[in-house]
Amino acid sequence: MKRFATIVAGSLILLLATAVVYVGLILPRTAPPADIEIVSTPELVERGRYLAEHVILCNDCHSERDWTQYGGPPMPPIGAGRACMTRQTAVAGIMTSESNFPGVLCIRNITSDKDTGIGDWTAGEIIRSMREGIGRDGRALFPIMPYFIFKDISDEDSAAIVAYMRALPPVRAERADRDIDFPMNVLIRLWPEPLTDPVPTPDRADSIAWGAYLTAIGRCSFCHTPRAGRGIAGITGKEFAGGVPFAIGSKVMYSKNLTPHATGIGNWTREAFIARFKAYSEPLTVAPEDNTLMDWNAYAGMTEADLSAIYDYLQSLPPVEFVQQEL
Ligand code: HEC
Ligand code: HEC
Repeated sequence: MKRFATIVAGSLILLLATAVVYVGLILPRTAPPADIEIVSTPELVERGRYLAEHVILCNDCHSERDWTQYGGPPMPPIGAGRACMTRQTAVAGIMTSESNFPGVLCIRNITSDKDTGIGDWTAGEIIRSMREGIGRDGRALFPIMPYFIFKDISDEDSAAIVAYMRALPPVRAERADRDIDFPMNVLIRLWPEPLTDPVPTPDRADSIAWGAYLTAIGRCSFCHTPRAGRGIAGITGKEFAGGVPFAIGSKVMYSKNLTPHATGIGNWTREAFIARFKAYSEPLTVAPEDNTLMDWNAYAGMTEADLSAIYDYLQSLPPVEFVQQEL
């Protein structure tokens, strides 16, 4: 009996050791960066700028934010990264509560500076970071970089974003290397997944499909869909129902219900929806306690046609009642 127990304990330890080695050494799953050449044109840069600045908001993470303005628009130098998250600090707009970060993470400089930015990265390397969560050196990026959402950015739009990023003025801004605590440093290796198929751009003429695409890459769901605990996945059946708590300074705010329920945007006209965004086209100075985490000013730069498609998509969702989640 004692021998049997030893065998069982031995096998368990072996199994655990194998799991640790697997996660520690073999993962993350990666594929080589695509070998692509991007021929920059003014139209391509403009498309990339529109997406990066008004739909996807890359610079809301990759720049410091001006919290004296409504929604905290990014401040110059655009794309040069920002101060580190540390074990002592929480970062408004990124972490959903005031808790401390498990380690040190400095959001990277993505301008075209060759030494401190990504000026000498290939297009394939940039796109792999963006959509598959793998850094140039093959490491798994921390999933605050929302590659699990950006996997939906089409091949064509990814190329446009690269063209835009390469057109950003190079800024020298050294960002310290990250230092993530155990077990998070191991866990983050589990998430990246190589893309195996081409990602087509949806048909713009199909308003609901186009709106779904913009809403997905615009990360609306990340703030407007409640999540179980601190996970990444939204709760099924609660898509876009809002009520997600965010700590901003000393106050807690909740995202709103975007479903066509009476507690959401069920009674909103298309015109009212578009006007709500366009109202913030100009930066607006506010007191810190009146601020919000949604960068309305950036999203206000979306075209009326795109906002209208988002409206169509949201109105096509099943209505769900608004419930405030716990912080
Ligand atoms: C919600 C915040 C957030 C948004 C939005 C975001 N990023 Fe990131 N990004 C990060 C973080 C955090 C890292 C660092 C991850 C790490 O080092 O583990 C990162 C890393 C990167 C890297 C790798 C840089 C390096 O030196 O390793 C690239 C390239 C990048 N982001 C490009 C983009 C682009 C392009 C967009 C818009 C399409 C974007 N990011 C939007 C947070 C964000
Ligand atoms: C960083 C988190 C965040 C992101 C990303 C975000 N929102 Fe919000 N949103 C909020 C919060 C918080 C509120 C409530 C406070 C406010 O009105 O700003 C809100 C409010 C709204 C409202 C107002 C609804 C009402 O009843 O007044 C609309 C409409 C909206 N968001 C749509 C969107 C859409 C569409 C997107 C994507 C393009 C999006 N949001 C992305 C956090 C976010």
